[in-house]
Amino acid sequence: MTIAANVGPAWALEVANADSIAELWHQAEDCTRCDLYRNATQIVFGEGSGKAEIVLIGEQPGDQEDLTGRPFVGPAGRLLDHCLEEAGLDRQRCYVTNAVKHFKFTPRGKRRLHAKPNAGEIRRCAWWLGAELNILQPKLVVTLGASALYALLGPKAKLTPERGHILHPTNHPPVLVTIHPSYLLRIRNEADRDQQRRDFVSDLHKAAEFRPR
Ligand code: URA
Repeated sequence: MTIAANVGPAWALEVANADSIAELWHQAEDCTRCDLYRNATQIVFGEGSGKAEIVLIGEQPGDQEDLTGRPFVGPAGRLLDHCLEEAGLDRQRCYVTNAVKHFKFTPRGKRRLHAKPNAGEIRRCAWWLGAELNILQPKLVVTLGASALYALLGPKAKLTPERGHILHPTNHPPVLVTIHPSYLLRIRNEADRDQQRRDFVSDLHKAAEFRPR
């Protein structure tokens, strides 16, 4: 599917004044574009080679990511790593980042429960995502879940009908749409979970095999 010109959101792919991911990260450390910085331990910026041809975008850091400052190191990250390996896609070939760079949570006793970022938080943080993509100029972007898809392409692109497809928006690199690995962690029925996991690995395999047109 080709997304028509100007369908992508105006907030994405903005130009930032930085030449490298390290420089951009440094600028992002002081980010107050939304309120999420107030309760988070630190910013969790993208991680990976500055020459990565594939960018994986998640939703937002979780508890362990917030504490370590690194994306996808908790349960969803470990599952992602296993699925990447099964799909033949080396994480070292990828740059891994999130739509939202600060952990949003609801305190529940000693625990901090994931709280979904809202549209405004995603839009404000897409400034950084657009800047990361401008620097990296990847051949393919993989959106993991609805928040990443929204950050990149806005409200018109829907996860369920596009899942497993590679979109070719005119103003972005190609986008492979898939689920978020934490969705697999929430499926109770074993047969459903196994099927969804196979489909997820198959989606990631498409990314591993992707060659630009
Ligand atoms: N979930 C995400 O979307 N990103 C992370 O970094 C960790 C969990």
